Amino acid sequence: MARVLSGIQPSGDPHLGNYIGAMRHWVADQERDDCFFFIVDLHALTTQSDPRELRAATIDLAAWLLAVGLTPERATLWVQSHVHEHAELAWILQCFTAFGELNRMTQFKERREQQDFVSAGLFTYPALQAADILLYAIDRVPVGEDQRQHLELTRDVAARFNQRFGETFVLPEAAIPSVGGRVMNLQEPGKKMSKSTGAPSGTINLADPPDVVSRKVKSAVTDSGRDIVARDDKPAISNLLEIHSAMSGRTVAELEEAYAGAGYGAFKQDLAELLVERLDPLRRRHHELMGDPAELARLLEVGAERAQAIASKTLGTVYERVGLLPRGRA
Ligand code: AMP
Ligand code: TRP
Repeated sequence: MARVLSGIQPSGDPHLGNYIGAMRHWVADQERDDCFFFIVDLHALTTQSDPRELRAATIDLAAWLLAVGLTPERATLWVQSHVHEHAELAWILQCFTAFGELNRMTQFKERREQQDFVSAGLFTYPALQAADILLYAIDRVPVGEDQRQHLELTRDVAARFNQRFGETFVLPEAAIPSVGGRVMNLQEPGKKMSKSTGAPSGTINLADPPDVVSRKVKSAVTDSGRDIVARDDKPAISNLLEIHSAMSGRTVAELEEAYAGAGYGAFKQDLAELLVERLDPLRRRHHELMGDPAELARLLEVGAERAQAIASKTLGTVYERVGLLPRGRA
């Protein structure tokens, strides 16, 4: 069985981009592979500052992971900060990551523009992500397109460490979906759908009730002309076609054929219905799960224990290889 791992930030409501680009693949992965999915609250500290919001978003996201279909019987689910080995390995890896490598990261370059206070944590964010992955000897990391560069950095750092200290880390592969790896904002199709940037009415949140989902789809911007085709000069309709394809399982080519001559209005109407039909059960399940916080806490504890059993072994090996003196020895 392959080992699969991915993480998601508790920084506000998860949205359709998270679901299409990442979460729905995780649900499929857990049926075949040995899976590890976790909530990256330490990463969220690089952008979020309100303690109460962070705690609430963490529990909320745990409920979403379960609501979309992840189950503790099939996958290990936990909160990053509950396993202190993540932060510890991150420090070690920072010492084997070049300043210049981190300085080239697109996500850093984008986020530094959006923030008044650019912390060292925002800069070293990818080293923590590398630690997340390398602790668990992971083969495959299912993520959206925006994470490709961080995965390449993880491999580079792992290879460098192995070269110097002997085979220690497994080099992970990024698994990026061919359809839906980059869902765009419905109002600004030049920007990716995101929790924090772009027009809020162009982001469909998983928590949006049916009427809101429907309204957002129907008011999505479209391109000039009326053809329903995916083409580079038609970014808006291409995005809607990809969303439809990801949620319906029909190929973009099939959809283009089915909607030839139909007009944007009819297509949007169908897309709105499709999204409501798929998302509403998830929203209801999430609501139910949020009604039992003690059970959520219990499930996260089971996950943290399982994760830590593996992480602590890897960290022990790393400490020894780099020459840190074991406690109680001289
Ligand atoms: P984040 O919310 O940034 O922690 O992202 C969680 C996961 O969702 C990562 O695998 C991202 O690559 C993926 N993701 C985030 N935004 C999008 C998007 N607009 N389209 C596709 N995937 C996305
Ligand atoms: N950086 C990822 C994002 O913004 C989240 C993340 C943190 C992650 N650690 C990870 C994803 C490890 C995959 C594997 O989406």
